[in-house]
Amino acid sequence: MIPDAPAAEAGTLTAAPSTPMDALVIRGGRKLSGRAEISGAKNAALPVMAATLLAPGVHTLHNFPLLSDTRTMARVLEQLGARVEFRDRVCRIDTSNVDSVEAPYDLVRTMRASIYLLARFGAARVSLPGGCAWGPRPVNLHIEGLQAMGASLEIDHGYIVGSDVKLHGATFDFEIVSVGATAQLMMAATLAEGTTVLENVAIEPDITALGDVLIRCGARIEGLGTRRLAIHGVRQLKPIDTHIIPDRIEAATFLAAAAITGSGIALQRCEAGDVAAVMHKLEETGCQILPDSPRVTIAGPVRPGAVNIKTAPFPGFPTDMQAQMMAVCAIAEGTSVITDTIYVDRFTHVPELVRLGADIRLEQNTAIVKGVPRLQGAPVMATDIRASAALVLAALVADGETRISRIYHLDRGYEALDEKLSKLGADVQRVQE
Ligand code: EPZ
Repeated sequence: MIPDAPAAEAGTLTAAPSTPMDALVIRGGRKLSGRAEISGAKNAALPVMAATLLAPGVHTLHNFPLLSDTRTMARVLEQLGARVEFRDRVCRIDTSNVDSVEAPYDLVRTMRASIYLLARFGAARVSLPGGCAWGPRPVNLHIEGLQAMGASLEIDHGYIVGSDVKLHGATFDFEIVSVGATAQLMMAATLAEGTTVLENVAIEPDITALGDVLIRCGARIEGLGTRRLAIHGVRQLKPIDTHIIPDRIEAATFLAAAAITGSGIALQRCEAGDVAAVMHKLEETGCQILPDSPRVTIAGPVRPGAVNIKTAPFPGFPTDMQAQMMAVCAIAEGTSVITDTIYVDRFTHVPELVRLGADIRLEQNTAIVKGVPRLQGAPVMATDIRASAALVLAALVADGETRISRIYHLDRGYEALDEKLSKLGADVQRVQE
């Protein structure tokens, strides 16, 4: 059972779940120093949690991140009949008695990753994922891919309903690179009849990690880490026992914190290769970086220089770092041009950064950021996970006090970011509104 109330000291939880009314109060101007430990990755943990449905039994996930999104996925699994336990960064999931296929709207609407539940041989009733702060986030590739494997799926009153059929191998060529749909079809194909070939797949570290986990459970997957996968279906899989990989977006966010404050910090449990694209851009701004996995050290410049950024699927520049880098560019010397090619309207952070004194102009999916010498503290509102991280970074250098409301968005993807920043010397307080 998942405890709601904080019992960290008793060894079950590391961070108290936030309440909808939590806010952060940050007084800017302090340098950061010391080291931060990177937690397990949200975007690696969520598909692995869903993959536990592929093999009835007790699964063990070490280095598990305690976030509101992993809690939500745990609740969805419990809704299906699983038992979920947390203790000392280890999550145990027992799927021996899973007997339901329904993932209800009130749980799924907050977290898109619930769509992964469809991978369990098509027999499911999963609410269509809810709205997102920015633009439409279709799931057509998930559905088309599963239908190509013989799933009979239909949309019924806001739910994707699949009847219990044995999936078969198929060839599916992704018209665009999709992390979620790659994970979905990779999982579904492991137990399908015959061979599935997936072309133009995502190769994000979360995908490679999921593939490694499935192979260790008995799946037969060829081509991991390349854009073409061949998956030979097997009759059954063994339960999972794995370590969740470090969170590259959390690590990159801390690197950006050092860049924007001109500080020297060290990251522990950080896979440098997973953040290479961000490190290159930060070096362009004037940062000195020593990547020596699992330790990465960075020294930020007195004032960052402007850079141009275009997001792309891994190993390109991650869209999940677009907002945080925009905060760095907001105080840079010169003008930066930032284009998001993955989510053309992922800019809900822009008006909030402008409230803090940034000079940003939007033209379709491009932001022109004219660096200003100083930002001023103000009340601002978080709108999604990464937008809230960008506001935290900007507040670290803004004059005076910044109050960021709705930080439940932040807690969806960052484990105790405020505590970790306080340990590095930032003046950050979590308050109830
Ligand atoms: C994953 O989302 C991440 N979420 C996102 O991180 C991340 O922004 C995104 O990948 C891109 O890197 C998780 O892993 C839980 P996609 P996902 O399918 O899988 C389009 C965060 O902040 N598309 O790779 O949903 C889609 O609209 C979150 O941690 C379709 O058109 O992303 C987008 O333009 C936010 N049809 C593009 O593909 C589909 O069926 C890439 O989306 C699926 C996707």
